Amino acid sequence: MAGIRWPPEDTEIHQTRVASTADLISDDDRSVAADSWSIKSDYGSTLDDDQRHVDASDALSSGVRAASDYSSDKEAPDVDVEPSMLGLQSYWDATYADELANFHEHGHTGEVWFGADVMETVATWTKQLCSNISRGRMDNLDGDVGCESESVEQIASDMSMWSVLDIGTGNGLLLQGLAKQGFTDLTGVDYSEGAINLARNLAERDGFNSINFLVDDVLETKLERQFRLVMDKGTLDAIGLHPDGPMKRIMYWESVSKLVAPGGVLIITSCNHTKDELVQEVDNYNQRRFSALDAEISNDQEAFKDSSPFHYVSHVRSYPTFMFGGSEGSRVATVAFLRS
Ligand SMILES: C[S@@+](CC[C@H](N)C(=O)[O-])C[C@H]1O[C@@H](n2cnc3c(N)ncnc32)[C@H](O)[C@@H]1O
Repeated sequence: MAGIRWPPEDTEIHQTRVASTADLISDDDRSVAADSWSIKSDYGSTLDDDQRHVDASDALSSGVRAASDYSSDKEAPDVDVEPSMLGLQSYWDATYADELANFHEHGHTGEVWFGADVMETVATWTKQLCSNISRGRMDNLDGDVGCESESVEQIASDMSMWSVLDIGTGNGLLLQGLAKQGFTDLTGVDYSEGAINLARNLAERDGFNSINFLVDDVLETKLERQFRLVMDKGTLDAIGLHPDGPMKRIMYWESVSKLVAPGGVLIITSCNHTKDELVQEVDNYNQRRFSALDAEISNDQEAFKDSSPFHYVSHVRSYPTFMFGGSEGSRVATVAFLRS
């Protein structure tokens, strides 16, 4: 959940990772760091996992807030997480070098961040949300986004109108999931060249040859195109774990506000932040932009609207929840924001 981290889904990957000689970070360190942050797919014991999280945090001073800090009704977003090596590009370069080697040697896919169930949920929920927006069903987007009984042709037509960018795509499996839902214009970027190589290899192996993959740092993006749908699964989380995490998160919002086309949608999946915290972070970003406007126009509501690029529209409600410390939470949050 936003607040408690679980170990990776595919522990086999950790057992089979090969050592990289160029690696400045040991496999053990990376494995512990990943264990301290990511999520396995089955819904295991929170107490054991919480204890493991505390141990990992102690060992690495890694960047996740203690489970007891979690509160689902926090007013301010928790952007003050401790930094960890998961915020560094060197961590991801070393990780994907290993995952690429494991792919070539054993055919392994690599880490499915937050688990296969979450990935499947994100893909199907995204299709339903986009279909509803395409059909002008804007009134009830923040309910259970059920899909009315569209024909296969109608869905294909709806999905073809959505250009999709997955930022921090990693192995690119989310894009494969979206392709299975009918999306056709698909691009994945990651600042790690190893991730892009892995994503390309997997897409080719799995028959998704039309997905584009590019090396790009989302904080200094070279992309000149805008996309109607921008996906982020775990990337803002990773960016927030950089030693300059709070500053990098501000850069993130500046950058994605340029990448999402007007009227488009940004969907963030996070295990470090609740839905309320993400909404609050967007409000803070909007407010900062508004404050930066000339004082003369600052009373102008239209100017405020223009300076507020993102508005909450919906979030996934189907993730399992549990009680912890008197608060109800889910381990993952997936939240959609509409770009004005
Ligand atoms: C937790 S992984 C998630 C990968 C993938 N989205 C998934 O769900 O499997 C975070 C990803 O973000 C990438 N990343 C982190 N910071 C980035 C940045 N500034 N620009 C592009 N990619 C970044 C990392 O290389 C890594 O692949």
